[in-house]
Amino acid sequence: MMDEFSLSGKTILVTGASSGIGRQAAILAAKHGATLVITGRDSKRLQETLDQLVEERDASPVTCHLSRVTELTIESEMDDLVSSLPVLDGIVHCAGIVGPLPVKFITQADIDRMFGINYHVPVNLTGKILRKKKLSDGASILFMSTIATRNPYFGGALYSGSKAALEAYSKTLALEMVAKGIRSNCIMAGLVDTPMIENPSEKNMQEEALERYLKRYPLGIGNPKDVANAVVFFMSDASKWITGTSLIMGGE
Ligand SMILES: NC(=O)c1ccc[n+]([C@@H]2O[C@H](COP(=O)([O-])OP(=O)(O)OC[C@H]3O[C@@H](n4cnc5c(N)ncnc54)[C@H](OP(=O)(O)O)[C@@H]3O)[C@@H](O)[C@H]2O)c1
Repeated sequence: MMDEFSLSGKTILVTGASSGIGRQAAILAAKHGATLVITGRDSKRLQETLDQLVEERDASPVTCHLSRVTELTIESEMDDLVSSLPVLDGIVHCAGIVGPLPVKFITQADIDRMFGINYHVPVNLTGKILRKKKLSDGASILFMSTIATRNPYFGGALYSGSKAALEAYSKTLALEMVAKGIRSNCIMAGLVDTPMIENPSEKNMQEEALERYLKRYPLGIGNPKDVANAVVFFMSDASKWITGTSLIMGGE
């Protein structure tokens, strides 16, 4: 019997696979039979992901997956990545940043930085892949948005704005690609336990704000595998009747 949840025979690009959700999505996709192309900036952590992918596919040659260290905000690096890609059956755009900033402190440089990786990169990368005809008919494209586009948090204006723009883009992409059976969807996850939210007081979120935020999760905060399960579904033929949607995860 054909397993519509299988990713066997599919080649999938996962950006941001050196960490967090992207790493788990790549590992789980490999477990479900996919061949992966993964990108990240940190070569050591990206290699760790690649090692885990190879382990998941121990019956296949070591060369089954590809990894590329790429700073995606540099256009020439993105072009090199696109040139090196095989024809894909799926794209999972996980590369992204967070960074709370109260509205009165937002500068043009902050807008450029946040929108650069969270919006411009997935939009440009998708366009380049389409123009180079590196996406098969019937492929699936997935973007990582956030529940914060619906439920604001203090300091989240730029982050939420960049992801809301991505949701709107994804819907238009879904419309324009429908004739080729190419689907485009978003995942709007609540708080997921990844390096993005680790050491909150030093890095991204004040400890006190984080505590307040955690109370908003009746099912607790997520782990990357929770999101990766949904990624596998969206990459598989089991979701072939779903496009232009955004899936809320986390119950906030
Ligand atoms: N964690 C959450 O609570 C949560 C909730 C909702 C949505 N999301 C979204 O889910 C996605 C993954 O988040 P995560 O929590 O897994 O984050 P993470 O652990 O910090 O991983 C982010 C990934 O993006 C890559 N990246 C960042 N800037 C890049 C750039 N300029 N060029 C290339 N790669 C870049 C990082 O590469 P290096 O590490 O190699 O530099 C890393 O692989 C993000 O888009 C995020 O907005 C996260």
